[in-house]
Amino acid sequence: MATENTPEKKTTTAVAQNEEFEATVRVGDASRPVADLAAYMAKQTPVVEAKGMTINYEVDPPVHAVVDVDLTVNRGEIVGLAGESGCGKTTLAYGINRLLKPPALLVGGEVTFHDASGTDINVIALKGDELRMFRWDKVSMVFQGAMNSLNPVISIRKQLYDVFTTHRPGMTKRQMNDRCIELFELVGVDPNRLDSFAHELSGGMRQRVMIAMALALSPQLMIMDEPTTALDVVVQRGILREIMRLREQLQFAVIFITHDLPLLLEISDRIAIMLRGEIIEMNLAENILHHPQEEYTKRLLGSFPSLMGERGSFVRTGEDS
Ligand SMILES: Nc1ncnc2c1ncn2[C@@H]1O[C@H](COP(=O)(O)OP(=O)(O)O)[C@@H](O)[C@H]1O
Ligand SMILES: [Mg+2]
Repeated sequence: MATENTPEKKTTTAVAQNEEFEATVRVGDASRPVADLAAYMAKQTPVVEAKGMTINYEVDPPVHAVVDVDLTVNRGEIVGLAGESGCGKTTLAYGINRLLKPPALLVGGEVTFHDASGTDINVIALKGDELRMFRWDKVSMVFQGAMNSLNPVISIRKQLYDVFTTHRPGMTKRQMNDRCIELFELVGVDPNRLDSFAHELSGGMRQRVMIAMALALSPQLMIMDEPTTALDVVVQRGILREIMRLREQLQFAVIFITHDLPLLLEISDRIAIMLRGEIIEMNLAENILHHPQEEYTKRLLGSFPSLMGERGSFVRTGEDS
């Protein structure tokens, strides 16, 4: 992967710019056959199942951030979670990964993790060490704004070693070094950069490093919260390609969170549309594009001019229009 020197620009999407949607735009191609969601699901094995997730922020007045949400992610699947800023995407992800802190409160819900070993884990019941081992080991997260959360005074190598010393106490220095090189190669950063500090890397490289950290322990599920939002479009596309390739290669599942629906349509198997704390529509990506059911989904699609082209032809080809 080429070195990235592209300057970072904050990309703003149509939705972010424009609160008022054009409700009249025709979306997708309704003449296409509806893909069979039930048949698709029947062939899948779930890796995580969240049911009835209800999360409040106990402030005055209380915020009902997530309301009775069900979300299943299958093994090796990319599930997109789309919706405007403030609709509850991050809160839901934190709920699934047990990262909620006061004033956030999980009022109701169950999360079952179907481990590759065959054991089912009741995530909500995990405590202390069990919970620490679960996170990163089974489910890792690339946090919103993560690329700015690397420690500025500790080398990248040391930060990766810290993950291993905590979670894989048996590893030797040599094994850690080998694994670091392997991870950097996986995410397309020159291993010579291991001894760099965060400020010596471009935004794109820092984000790749965060993805390397999330991959460090070979999790079965990776939650990526707006992982490319702050990046230049070209860098973003490079990273997305990498994520897709890694998913093929390593077979982990991804919950990919963004307000950027066109991007999700390209990379996701299924997409959940979130509005005011609820998942209002969930379907295969192609059905969301060509046969959206909810008015809100149609308006969301309609607010992206790039989807309104001939046949939305760039979608899922990986080629830029
Ligand atoms: N610490 C907090 N205290 C009170 N309200 C919060 C807090 N964090 C988030 N919220 C509210 O919860 C809702 C969902 O937020 P969030 O999950 O961050 O949405 P998204 O990730 O979709 O942008 C928003 O209305 C937000 O203002
Ligand atoms: Mg968020």
